Amino acid sequence: MARLDIHVLGSPVLRQETERVTQFTPELRRLADDMFDTMHAAKGIGLAAPQVGRLERLTVVEVEEQRFALVNPEIIQRAGAIRWEEGCLSIPDVYSHVDRANEVTVRAQDLDGNLIEVVGTELLAVCLQHEIDHLHGKLFLDRLSLLKRRAALKTWEQEKGKYVGNLRVLPVGDLPPDDADQG
Ligand code: NI
Repeated sequence: MARLDIHVLGSPVLRQETERVTQFTPELRRLADDMFDTMHAAKGIGLAAPQVGRLERLTVVEVEEQRFALVNPEIIQRAGAIRWEEGCLSIPDVYSHVDRANEVTVRAQDLDGNLIEVVGTELLAVCLQHEIDHLHGKLFLDRLSLLKRRAALKTWEQEKGKYVGNLRVLPVGDLPPDDADQG
C-alpha cells in the first residue's frame, strides 16, 4: 500500500465530475487500498478519489469500525436532519457546521462489482453525504451560508500557502492524534 498525495482546495480535480466505474480490476482494488492507507495516515474518516487526483467514482469510508469501499455510490433515500461540524482532508484546518440528512441509504457496488446497500445515521450519514458530494465536484464549503463560507475561506487563506502546487504530502511517520472528523 502507498500513501498518496492529497489535492487541496484550488486543485481543479476537486471540482470535476467523476466517471462511473465499469471494470472491477486489481488496479481499482489497489487504488482503494492506497486510499484507505492515505485516509488512515491523514487521520480521516472518508476519502474520495478526486482527493487523490483520480476520477474513478470511488470513495472509502471508515466510521466507528464500519469500513466500506463504495464504487458508483448513490443516495437512494434520505430522512431527518442533522447539523454536524465537518472538516475535509482537502481543506485542512477549516471546520464549519453543515446541515445534512440524519439518515441515508446508499446503493453502491463493492470492489468486485456486487450491488450493496449501506444505511448510515448521524456521523456515518454525514460522512457518506460528504464523500458522495466529492464524487460530483462538490465540497462542504458549497453547503454553507454565504457568511459561514466567507469565514471558512478566510481561515483557508492563512493555511493554503503550506500546500505547494495544491498538494498535501503526508509525512512518512504518524501524524499526532487528532480528534477531528475529516473526510
Ligand atoms: Ni472532504
